[in-house]
Amino acid sequence: MILETPRLHLREMTRDDLDFVATMMAHPEVSFYYERQFSRADSEAWLERQLARYAGDGHGLWLAVDRATLEPVGQVGLVMQEVEGVRHPEIGWLLHRPFWGQGYATEAAAATRDASFSRWKYDHVISLIRPINLPSQRVAIRIGMTPGRRVQFHGFDSIVFERQAAVETPAT
Ligand SMILES: CC(C)(COP(=O)(O)OP(=O)(O)OC[C@H]1O[C@@H](n2cnc3c(N)ncnc32)[C@H](O)[C@@H]1OP(=O)(O)O)[C@@H](O)C(=O)NCCC(=O)NCCS
Repeated sequence: MILETPRLHLREMTRDDLDFVATMMAHPEVSFYYERQFSRADSEAWLERQLARYAGDGHGLWLAVDRATLEPVGQVGLVMQEVEGVRHPEIGWLLHRPFWGQGYATEAAAATRDASFSRWKYDHVISLIRPINLPSQRVAIRIGMTPGRRVQFHGFDSIVFERQAAVETPAT
């Protein structure tokens, strides 16, 4: 268990989560902005990348699970991404289609943002979002990120949304 929010918990995935991940990633609306179909083998590789991230970075995309039903709803987490030669902590979110429109991504992303600063001590977080991905941009704005420069990322023009950690002013 990594994080808890009012309606969700976030935990590390295991290989037993492949069925959910593969079903979700194969959904055409979920994979729409990645512009490719995800086969089961692609999802397996995706899952393995997260396991490697947990081991190497201490975090990655986690599984977001509905606390009431124990049903997985998507993946949200913190991944290191190299942008123009510099590694940045990125908050990522994707929900399975039946769970859109309920505020789950925002709820999980806000908790991840807070943990990025308090637990992992990063001084900023980013999210890389394609200009056409308006639902994802709305999540970034709702968690207090600001759109900035455009970069090429995995072959796509992407907007760098960013938020700095609050600077604590020492009491005088
Ligand atoms: C990006 C993505 C996670 C956004 O999902 P989402 O359901 O729109 O986002 P949230 O979970 O934060 O839900 C917010 C929506 O739920 C509504 N909502 C309903 N109940 C809510 C509640 N209790 N709290 C907050 N919002 C609620 C909001 O009004 C909002 O809808 P709106 O944007 O039309 O105003 C989803 O579209 C997705 O998985 N896309 C495919 C993968 C992807 O593109 N990932 C991002 C790559 S950069």
